[in-house]
Amino acid sequence: MVNLAATMKDVIHLSIGQPDFQCPQHIVEAHIDALRAGHLGYTMDAGLPELLTELAKYYTARTEREITEDNILITTGATEAMYLAISVTSAPGRQFLIPDPTFPLYAPLVRMHGGEVKAIPTRAENGHQLDPQEVIDAIGPRTFAIILNSPSNPTGTVYPPETIEAIVQEAAYQGIRVISDEVYDHLILDDLEYASVLRHTSDLDHVMIASSFSKTYAMPGLRIGWIISSQGAIKMLRRYHMFTTTVANTPAQWAGVAALQGTTACVDEMVREYRRRRDRVVQLVSETPNLTGYWPQGGFYIFPSLPRTCNGSTLALRMLEEIGVCVVPGEAFGESCINSLRISYSTSMETIEEAFQRMIPWMAKQEM
Ligand SMILES: Cc1ncc(COP(=O)(O)O)c(C=O)c1O
Repeated sequence: MVNLAATMKDVIHLSIGQPDFQCPQHIVEAHIDALRAGHLGYTMDAGLPELLTELAKYYTARTEREITEDNILITTGATEAMYLAISVTSAPGRQFLIPDPTFPLYAPLVRMHGGEVKAIPTRAENGHQLDPQEVIDAIGPRTFAIILNSPSNPTGTVYPPETIEAIVQEAAYQGIRVISDEVYDHLILDDLEYASVLRHTSDLDHVMIASSFSKTYAMPGLRIGWIISSQGAIKMLRRYHMFTTTVANTPAQWAGVAALQGTTACVDEMVREYRRRRDRVVQLVSETPNLTGYWPQGGFYIFPSLPRTCNGSTLALRMLEEIGVCVVPGEAFGESCINSLRISYSTSMETIEEAFQRMIPWMAKQEM
C-alpha cells in the first residue's frame, strides 16, 4: 500500500506508524554532544552504564519495585528487545498465545524459531479488550508464553490493571512466561493508571518487558530500547545480543540518558495533542458509514471494523486508488480482522480532517 502510495500524487497518509513530532531539542543536543565528545566506541554489551543506571532509577520509581542495572539490557529499539525475548524462548513444541490483531513482529518470530502461535481474537465491539478468562481458557499443555502489547498497535487498546493482574498471576501459577511489549506505555490518553506487567508480577523470573524511547520521545530512528527481566534471564539474553547487534548505538544511548534526566513536559505536550486528535478521530469514525469504532485509550491508532463480509484489503486498495487515502488493512495484523482498517492519527489535525472529508462520502457510496 505504502509503495503504491509513493507512486501517486496527492495521497493522504493515515498509515504512519511513528510519531509525527520532533524529538525534543535537549535530546538532540545530547546526541550531538556525544558525537562531538567522541563517544563512538562500543559500550559494554549490556549497555551504557549511565543509561542502565537512569533506567533502573526510573523503573524503580515508576513501578515501586526494585529494578537494578542487572535487570536491564539495552537493545536496538524495542524490536531487538522483542526479537531476543522471542528467539530465546521459542522452540518446537512451545506454544505462544498472542492477541489477534497484533503488531506483526511477534508471530513470525515465534514461527521462525519453530514455535506455534495460538491467536486470541479481540473485537472492535468491545474496544478490542482482552478477556483474561479467554486467555486463561486458551492455556493448554504446550503453552509456553503469552505475548501482550498494551497500549496496542494496531488497536490503541489499553488493558486495565485487572486484566494484566489476572493474566500475569495465572501465568505465574502455571509456570508460563509473559512477554510484554510496552513501547507505548507513556501514550495513555485518558486518566488511567498504566498497568505495566512489572507492577503486577511478584518476581521477574517469568516475565520479560520490552520498551524503548521511540514513541515516548519521538526518536524511533535513534533505535534505543531495552528489555527488563530477572538477572538470570538478562545474562542469557546478553549472549544472544552479543551475536545479534553486539551493542546499541553509543551516541544514541547518551541521548537516552538526556531523555530520562530531562523534563517530561515535552511528553505531556505530545500526549495532549494525541488526545485531541483521538477525540476527533473517534467522532469522525462514528460519522463514517460502514465503520464501527470504539474508544481507544492509548498509542495513536484506532482499528475500526467494516461489515463482516467486507474484505478490508480490497477496500483499502480501492480507497487509495480512488480517493488517495492510505490506511493499513487489518490483514497485516492477524487473521481474525480482515474486515478492519488501521487508522493512525500520528499526523496533523488538518490532514485528519481532509482524509475524512474524502472518506465519508466515498464510504457512503460503497455497497457492503
Ligand atoms: C507495538 C510495537 N512494538 C515495537 C515497535 C518497534 O519499536 P522500536 O522503534 O523501539 O524498535 C513498534 C513500532 O511501531 C510497535 O508498534
